[in-house]
Amino acid sequence: MTTAELERATTKAVAPSVGTAMKALVYHGPGQYAWEDKLRPAIQDPGDAIVRVTTTTICGTDLHILKGDLPAVTDGRILGHEGIGVVEQVGTGVSEFHVGDKVIISCVTACLKCDFCKRGMYSHCRHGGWILGYTLDGTQAEYVRIPQADGSLYHFPPGEDEEAMVMLSDILPTGFECGVLNGQVKPGDTVAIVGAGPVGLAVLLTAQFYSPAAIFMIDIDDKRLAIAKQFGATNLINSSDGHAAHHVMELTEGAGVDVAIEAVGIPATFDICQAIIGAGGHDQVGEDMVRRRSRVQSRVIQGVLLS
Ligand SMILES: NC(=O)c1ccc[n+]([C@@H]2O[C@H](COP(=O)([O-])OP(=O)(O)OC[C@H]3O[C@@H](n4cnc5c(N)ncnc54)[C@H](O)[C@@H]3O)[C@@H](O)[C@H]2O)c1
Ligand SMILES: [Zn+2]
Ligand SMILES: [Zn+2]
Repeated sequence: MTTAELERATTKAVAPSVGTAMKALVYHGPGQYAWEDKLRPAIQDPGDAIVRVTTTTICGTDLHILKGDLPAVTDGRILGHEGIGVVEQVGTGVSEFHVGDKVIISCVTACLKCDFCKRGMYSHCRHGGWILGYTLDGTQAEYVRIPQADGSLYHFPPGEDEEAMVMLSDILPTGFECGVLNGQVKPGDTVAIVGAGPVGLAVLLTAQFYSPAAIFMIDIDDKRLAIAKQFGATNLINSSDGHAAHHVMELTEGAGVDVAIEAVGIPATFDICQAIIGAGGHDQVGEDMVRRRSRVQSRVIQGVLLS
């Protein structure tokens, strides 16, 4: 959404920002947030860029923050880790981007130099990773400071649609990498996706690159399930009756699925994934639920590895 739309979604009355002030969505503790005045960010390090945000969006992770699930986010933090914008200023160490460049902001900040970056594990970067809208002020604002800009920005493809391209900041690669690639979807697989939000739908779209035999979409919202149908889900399961796992086991004649991908982020949906995994299958969960995932990862149940 544009910053004007975010403004409308989050505040009642907004005055245009002037001088060094800007409007931003600010977290003030669980359940409390406001669209308010903040100082515009300035260059702090040579690798920084200041980007004027033209399109941003709201991630399920922002909703977890607002519920108080991520205590590392402190009072006063500007939320948001996705965005499209125009470079307004660059530090002396930035070589790949110039003032006026239109860019896609990655939700992951990468220095490109540390051991993790050199292994392509940018989300574990020793000088970055996911910090925007988490431990550093984020993109739900008129301006954002992007550290390690050379590794954290991407040139915007000319002529493309901003609302489509903002999906590349986080949602589409998360669904594809964390869900489909780590879940090792293969031709002929039966795949269950729990959660038909943007991330679950991105999993659904990209899982189809690997020609699975069936994709079950599980959610509590019929409207989202209807969209999943349009996007290629073969079976829809509304789990509000509490019997999602039972329905999946019926559909698979008791075998369970080859791949179960969790895209909600609450214990109940992890439980569904664990209950429906068939022999030799994989259970892939959202990266933000690290504590829960590490518990899941360490378990082998009935000969089934939960990765
Ligand atoms: N890099 C990452 O690891 C990363 C990036 C983005 C999002 N995420 C995580 O992915 C998850 C999904 O993100 P999103 O933006 O799609 O979220 P979202 O909130 O838009 O969508 C969640 C969906 O889950 C459904 N849902 C809620 N409770 C349910 C239940 N009990 N059973 C079944 N469905 C239920 C909702 O109806 C909704 O459709 C979140 O946990 C988010 O934090 C992780
Ligand atoms: Zn996100
Ligand atoms: Zn790094």
